[in-house]
Amino acid sequence: MTSVGRTRGALIVFEGGDRCGKTTQCGKLVERLQSQGVDACMWRFPDRSTAIGQAINAYLAEHSSMDDAVIHMLFVANRLEKREEMLQLLAGGTTLVLDRYSYSGVAYTAAKGVPHLSLEYCKSLEVVLPAADLVLHMSMTAEATAARGGYGEERYEKVDFQRKVMEIFGALRDDRWAVVDASSTIEAIHEQVVATVMPVVERARGGAPLGRLWD
Ligand code: TMP
Repeated sequence: MTSVGRTRGALIVFEGGDRCGKTTQCGKLVERLQSQGVDACMWRFPDRSTAIGQAINAYLAEHSSMDDAVIHMLFVANRLEKREEMLQLLAGGTTLVLDRYSYSGVAYTAAKGVPHLSLEYCKSLEVVLPAADLVLHMSMTAEATAARGGYGEERYEKVDFQRKVMEIFGALRDDRWAVVDASSTIEAIHEQVVATVMPVVERARGGAPLGRLWD
């Protein structure tokens, strides 16, 4: 993907298992960026507000069942339907902080171990989307997240499955990923996140090109 100009926003993604504290950290990061004069906003994937998102929500709440390939496609479509808006915001200088993205998409589906839904196949469906400038991997054991409040309410919140997801996240890491110890305190994590994110926001502002997924 080509550069979108000298003042583009950064694409910052939080990933990790269920109940690892991503949403709290996304909110705190956006507040901090805004307080420092950085135009920033937070999105979540799945975006449950769209028609596709509502179908995903029903599946996650176990109010409906779906073929694994079909639910995977819905998660992908839920990102693709936001692609244009995402690119426009970044090009206009807004830093986007995402609570999950395609990395969750491929990791959760591949963790199911369905032969025709391999990691490579899942990746191939999203190559038209921009890559994150930075993935903050909130790392924590499956057992530790299971002890947190509300765990077990949604379909994938099962320790064995989360363990597989975490293994796949580990295999996806490259030099754009930073690992954050999610078992630390909210404030300690936040300070680590801010220190990691600021140089990335500066690089994007300075014209570092936006990448394409999996390149
Ligand atoms: P959330 O709890 O962060 O809202 O995420 C909803 C669940 O959906 C979580 O278990 C992770 C899963 N998920 C996928 O399976 N595929 C995806 O593409 C995304 C974004 C999330």
